[in-house]
Amino acid sequence: MDKKEISKAVINRLPRYYRYLGDLLEKDVVRISSKELSKRMKVTASQIRQDLNNFGGFGQQGYGYNVEYLHTEIGKILGLDKQYNIIIIGAGNLGQALANYADFERRGFIVKGIFDVNPRLVGLTIRGIEIRNLDNLEEFVKMNQIDIAALALPKTQAPQVALDLASWGIKGFWNFAPTDYQLPDDVIVENVHLAESLMKLSYRLSEKYKSVDN
Ligand code: NAI
Repeated sequence: MDKKEISKAVINRLPRYYRYLGDLLEKDVVRISSKELSKRMKVTASQIRQDLNNFGGFGQQGYGYNVEYLHTEIGKILGLDKQYNIIIIGAGNLGQALANYADFERRGFIVKGIFDVNPRLVGLTIRGIEIRNLDNLEEFVKMNQIDIAALALPKTQAPQVALDLASWGIKGFWNFAPTDYQLPDDVIVENVHLAESLMKLSYRLSEKYKSVDN
């Protein structure tokens, strides 16, 4: 496969392709034309062809796409053919919600541990996973080969905890705390900010329904 740089916009669309193809697979659809896929996904057929050409195509003239094959291949591109071990740091509202969401596991993201400093939370279990204090965090990370840490702790605490985790070998951070990090270059931080998404919604609403007297 070509190792050229893939644009962020394409990468952003891949999980959506993956989800649609997964839905089609569940409905036992064997193949689909780029036109049909485009109708369902509300992306132009040429956009789909262009996106998938980044990875070598996958389609066959006059046949369309083999749904299972394309789903598997996009899954590989997204790294979903592997299993990732996750820990959640911070077992408050958000950390508990993440821990309660079983569907991540179906996609290969396995929650191995949940950590919090609050003694009232330590010892409780969420979906059978015990909330632990941070005393043996380093050992836990190494023993359980943790790949990803979900950061759901206050922004004042998050940078130091992330630095420690990175020094113990964690390479992926799924960050929810509204703060920036100074982490080694080989570490990848994926930010999820619901408030930013809401602001985008607000922008689109205000653009679409601008009052006439503005
Ligand atoms: P919360 O107050 O319910 O939970 C935070 C938990 O972190 C508490 O249980 C606390 O004991 C624990 N904690 C504090 N210091 C810690 C440390 N050093 N190590 C481990 N755990 C520690 O707060 P909530 O609502 O769950 O939010 C958590 C974080 O996520 C905050 O930074 C918040 O701003 C952020 N957040 C981000 C969202 C997003 O869309 N990105 C949405 C909601 C919250």
